[in-house]
Amino acid sequence: MSVQTPHKFGDIAEDFADRLLDWYDRSARVLPWRVPPGSAAVPDPYRVWMAEIMLQQTTVAAVAGYFERFTVRWPTVFDLAAAADADVMAAWAGLGYYARARNLLACARAVVREHGGMFPDSEAGLRALPGVGDYTAAAVAAIAFGRPAVVVDANIERVIARHRLIETPLPAAKREIKAALAPLVPADRPGDFAQALMDLGATVCTVRGPACAICPLMADCRARGRADIERLPVKPPKKAKPHRHGVAWWIERDGRIWLVRRPDKGMLGGMRALPGGEWTETRPRESGIISVDHGFTHFDLTLALVRREPQDAAAEGEWWPISALDVAGLPTLYRKLTDKMLERDG
Ligand code: ADE
Repeated sequence: MSVQTPHKFGDIAEDFADRLLDWYDRSARVLPWRVPPGSAAVPDPYRVWMAEIMLQQTTVAAVAGYFERFTVRWPTVFDLAAAADADVMAAWAGLGYYARARNLLACARAVVREHGGMFPDSEAGLRALPGVGDYTAAAVAAIAFGRPAVVVDANIERVIARHRLIETPLPAAKREIKAALAPLVPADRPGDFAQALMDLGATVCTVRGPACAICPLMADCRARGRADIERLPVKPPKKAKPHRHGVAWWIERDGRIWLVRRPDKGMLGGMRALPGGEWTETRPRESGIISVDHGFTHFDLTLALVRREPQDAAAEGEWWPISALDVAGLPTLYRKLTDKMLERDG
C-alpha cells in the first residue's frame, strides 16, 4: 500500500488545477476580452475591466454586442474618460443596472486622472476605483495582472458548491466557497484558472442538466451522480416582490415625441425616458392606451401610457423624432412601451 501524503487540499485531489487547466487549454471559449490559453499575448486591462463590469448580473451572450460597440467607439481608457456622459448612457441602454454605466465612466476618469491611464495592478488598488467591488477587483487582478486572487462569480459558486457539497444557502455559502477555493489557485495561471471555472460553470456544470460525464473535476466531486445536484448551490428563500404602477406620457407633435432625462439618482438614473409620474403601490386612476409589465430586481412594474398635450412638456427635455426612437438610448422598460405603441399605431 502506498503511503498517503497529507496535503493542503483535504479530500480534493492535488491535481485539481492541472485537470481544470488541461480542460481549459482544449475547451476555452473564444471571447473578445480574453487572450487564448497558452498565448504569449498580454490581456488589455481596460478590456478585461470593461468586460467584468458588463458581465455582472448577465450573460456573455447579452454582453457581446455591447462590448464590441463600446471598444470600437472608445478603444482606450482615455477615449472613454473623454466621452460625454449622455453618449455612454445611451450606448449602455438595454444592458440594465444603469448605475454600472455611471460608475464605468467615473472609473475611467479616475484611472486617467489619478493613475495616468494605467489600471492599478493589485486587488486593493483596483478595489479603490469607483464601481469596482470585491468580485471585479479579484477578477481583473487575476485575469489582467496574473495575481493569485480568489475569484468567485455565480458560475464558480455553482462549480465549487457542488464539488465540495456545500449545503449552506447563498449568500452565506460564499465564505465557504472562497475558503475552499483559495488553496487551489495556482500561482502561475490564476487568470486562466478563474476563467476555466467560469467556462466550466457556463458549459459543463450548468444550472440544469450538468454534463458530469465530461467534467474534468468529476473524480473528486462530492455531488457527482447525485439526483439532486441541480439543487446546489442552495438558494436563499425567495422574497415576494412588491408590485408598483406608473404612468408615462406620450406627448406628440409633428412626428416627434417629448423625451426627458431621469434624475441621476434613483432607478434608471441619468437615462433618457418618457416623462411621467411617480411609480407607486396604488393603481393609477387613468387607464392607459397600452401598458407593459417589467421586472426590476426589487419590484415589478406595470407602466401605462397616456396621451398628453404638447403644453404638458416640461421645461427640460427634447422633441425626439419618432422615426429615430431606436437610437434614443431608451432603457428596455421605455423601449417596450414605445415599441408597443408604434406597433399599435402601425
Ligand atoms: N463572466 C464574468 N467574467 C467572465 C470572463 N472573464 N469570462 C467568461 N465569463 C465571464
